[in-house]
Amino acid sequence: MDKANNKRIVLVTGATGGLGTAMCKKLLQDGFRVVGNYITHEKAEKWTKKMNDEGFHIDLFHGDVSTFEGAGQMIKNIVEKTGPIDTLVNNAGITRDGRLVNMKPEDWYTVINTNLNSVYNCTKQVIDGMIERKFGRIINISSVNGQRGQFGQTNYSAAKAGMHGFTKSLAMEVAKYGVTVNTISPGYIGTDMVMAVPEKVLNQIVAQVPMGRLGGTHEVAHLVSFLASEETSFITGANYSINGGQHVY
Ligand code: CAA
Repeated sequence: MDKANNKRIVLVTGATGGLGTAMCKKLLQDGFRVVGNYITHEKAEKWTKKMNDEGFHIDLFHGDVSTFEGAGQMIKNIVEKTGPIDTLVNNAGITRDGRLVNMKPEDWYTVINTNLNSVYNCTKQVIDGMIERKFGRIINISSVNGQRGQFGQTNYSAAKAGMHGFTKSLAMEVAKYGVTVNTISPGYIGTDMVMAVPEKVLNQIVAQVPMGRLGGTHEVAHLVSFLASEETSFITGANYSINGGQHVY
């Protein structure tokens, strides 16, 4: 809790990406104290300038969440400068798409470290405080491709499916301390990551979405802010699909 302003503090990892940016804006608009994490200095400088120009003032903290030490140093800096973290949004993620026959070990390990091990690295270092303060929200940003699989994404789908396994188990462990743990599984959203998919392939994918379009980053951000709110205190271990009907089950 930000004592001076009586606001809950939310950390969004991978804040400078398409989804992260939308989440930061929405959370700020909804009255949270928002801090973001980034890895590339150049991108962070441009992001901060653009956000300030638009009237969104958000402190960014550097840290490589794919390592335990990187995540730990970042979280220490945030706690010292801003205060203890009430809500952690594990959003940082990358793709290294390719069929398994072509997948180099580096493509596998980089995706698992960045998308899945980061969830342990960050959560492990905020969970004790949440338990002590009897309040916490862990929100893991997974993917429809963790739920159903995707040609060319063995690494990414494995990491994203793993995130929800983590959610379910941790939800059970910390429920009695007022800490909730949930997963959000977005479908294809209009981010740079999705726009990097070859046009022909992407058109085929969108054709399979009953809504016939990509999702908006603001649509995912709205769900994040909902799950971060006080009133969602009985929702835990859930996996929220937000995919325009692409995968229903
Ligand atoms: N199902 C079955 N077969 C397929 C297929 C599919 N979906 N896609 C391609 N193939 C077949 C092709 O027809 C081809 O067969 P032939 O050799 O018999 O002609 C073979 O597989 C090779 O296809 P490619 O030429 O496409 O193979 P590639 O190795 O050059 O490229 C790829 C593979 C990089 C994975 C490319 O297909 C691709 O980029 N796919 C999109 C993957 C994707 O959706 N990524 C999502 C990124 S965004 C994201 O991840 C956010 C999120 O959470 C949703």
